[in-house]
This record gives sequence, C-alpha cells and structure tokens, in this order.
Amino acid sequence: MARDEWDPRKLPDLTGRRYLVTGSNAGLGFFACLQLAEAGAHVIMSARNPSRLSRARAAILAQVPDADLETLALDTSNLGSVRAAAATVRGRVGLHGVLLNAGIVHPPKTREVTLDGHELVIATNALGHYALAGALLPALAAALGRMVWLGSVSTMLFPWDPVDPELVNDYTPWRAYVQSKVATSALGFEADRRLRAASVPVASIVAHPGYSLGGRTRRIAGVSAPSRRKRFIGGLQAPISQSKERGAWAPIRALVDPDAEGGQFWGPARTYTGAPTLGKPSPVTTDPDVGARMWHYAEHATRTEWPYLKGKKLRLR
Ligand SMILES: NC(=O)c1ccc[n+]([C@@H]2O[C@H](COP(=O)([O-])OP(=O)(O)OC[C@H]3O[C@@H](n4cnc5c(N)ncnc54)[C@H](OP(=O)(O)O)[C@@H]3O)[C@@H](O)[C@H]2O)c1
Repeated sequence: MARDEWDPRKLPDLTGRRYLVTGSNAGLGFFACLQLAEAGAHVIMSARNPSRLSRARAAILAQVPDADLETLALDTSNLGSVRAAAATVRGRVGLHGVLLNAGIVHPPKTREVTLDGHELVIATNALGHYALAGALLPALAAALGRMVWLGSVSTMLFPWDPVDPELVNDYTPWRAYVQSKVATSALGFEADRRLRAASVPVASIVAHPGYSLGGRTRRIAGVSAPSRRKRFIGGLQAPISQSKERGAWAPIRALVDPDAEGGQFWGPARTYTGAPTLGKPSPVTTDPDVGARMWHYAEHATRTEWPYLKGKKLRLR
C-alpha cells in the first residue's frame, strides 16, 4: 500500500494474524487492541490488573462483538511475570507482532525500586519490554513478525544521563521518564541492527503517539472516563494534542503496514498530532554507541540474552 493511501480508520484485513499488546487495559494500548480487533486480528490483550483487563476486553466486545480476543496477565515491571507470560505465548503458533506499549507516564515523585531491584520507571517501560521481546523472538521469527517499541518526543527535547540509567543519584519524575524513553527507543533501534546482523527475520520498529491526552479521548465504559477537569485541560491544549485513539495510529501502522520496515521511526505527521507517517528520531536514540551501551545494560539488568544473536542456529517452526 502506498504510504499516502494509508487510512488509519480502515486497516488492511488482519484475519489470521496474531498480535500481543502490553498495557491493553487503558490509553493507547486499549485503542490499539480495538483497532486490531476491528481489522479481524487475533489480539492477545495483556495487563497487570485482571479486573481492568477484563473490563477492557468487555469494552472491545461491546464495539466489536465478533472480536477474536485472548487475555494474558503481564506486569512489565516484574521479570518473573514477563517470563511467565512469554512462556504462555511462546508455546503456540507464530506471533505476527508485539506492541511494547505499557508504560508509566506519570512517574512517582520519589525513586522506587522493583522486586528485581531496578528503578521502577525504566524497569516498567524499557527492561520488561526488552526481556519480553527477547523471549518472544522465536514466535515472532516463526511468523516473520515485528516488534514495535514506544518512543516519545521527550527524547528530542530533554537531556538524559548516559552513565546512570536508573538515576541512583539524581532522580526526578520527569528525568526518570526521559531516561526510560531514551532506553526504550535506543533498544528498539539496536535490536534492529542486531537482528539484521544475525539475519533474524523479525523487524524492530520505534513509534511514538505524539501528544495524546485522556482529556481529549472519548468516554468508554470501564476504560476511559475523563473528568471534567481533564476535559478542560485537554481543551486548552487542543491545538497541540490529540486523543489516545489517534495516538494509537502510528504504533499500529508500524505494527501492521506491510511497507513498514525495521529501523524506522513512525509518528504523527505534525509531531504531536496527525496522520501516522515516517518521522525523524532524536539522534541520541539511533546512536550505535548509545544502543550498544543500553543493550549491555539491559542484558545485565534482566540477566537475559536474546536468542539467535550470538551464532545460535535459528530454527523456524
Ligand atoms: N500519551 C502520550 O502522549 C504519550 C507520548 C509519548 C509516549 N507515550 C507512550 O505510550 C505508551 C502508552 O501511554 P498512554 O498515554 O496510553 O498511557 P496510559 O493511558 O497511562 O496507559 C498506560 C498503560 O500501561 C499500563 N501499565 C503501566 N504499568 C504497567 C506494568 N507494570 N505492567 C503492565 N502494564 C502497565 C497501564 O496499566 P494500569 O492501568 O494497570 O496502570 C495502562 O494500561 C507509554 O509507553 C508511553 O510512554 C505516550
């Protein structure tokens, strides 16, 4: 499909294709699942909270009664949960794509540490997804699939600390968010370089949703209920913001457009809003030295090496 013909409201038929989305119960993740389900895909909705996940599933079925949905418990801040979820998915037939979406967008005021001993925001947004994508690589390779990482414009606007990714010394909520998104994006681009070098038939793509606000998002019972205050604030920011439904457009295009390729960066046409299009990532996220450093950090922090990248034979099912 030619790029300018892409209609985010009318995706290609995805019947017979299988996708996993993290953070499916709210925000972009919910709308990504809805859009995939509308196109006929089998969607594995995952989330850390079973009740919120079940409400989100019901909300999709209310709009798409024949949606092909499955639910999966997955807390990206917990490496045990990530491994258990990946084991459940891995044992089945191939996976066409994973949307590494879950994230803390409003980090805690003071530094918190996960059960695995890592700073909470980078663990949730980056490390859990690194471990998940690696564990799902065999299933993705079996379907010539792709993985999409959620980047952010914040990586273009704010500095980050290359030496102290977990902000042991100088934590602020916003710095923690930027650290996590530089790490996520750099891992996404580094994964593409490593997968290509090892001839693994899986594409790694980075996408961002611009500036997508709950206050600009429609009400959906059990999933999205923006308060009057949120709506007011959303209204004030209308020229530079969009709904989370539209925010899902670029990640979804990266996930399902047959023309999308590994190493690309997709986002809204007007940076914060608009139709999904190819964008220009911030230089720090594509810097191979930063990518290698982040990869080394993620390997050690998660005690996980991705299969196939070190000469292990790739066996496609
Ligand atoms: N919205 C934007 O403008 C924007 C801009 C740039 C990048 N992004 C990125 O886009 C992604 C989604 O953002 P959003 O705006 O949709 O945020 P959101 O509305 O706050 O939704 C975040 C989702 O992530 C889930 N989540 C949080 N911690 C989790 C964990 N430990 N395990 C599993 N799921 C977890 C949440 O589940 P719970 O309900 O259980 O918390 C929720 O489903 C994030 O990666 C964010 O960094 C967003």
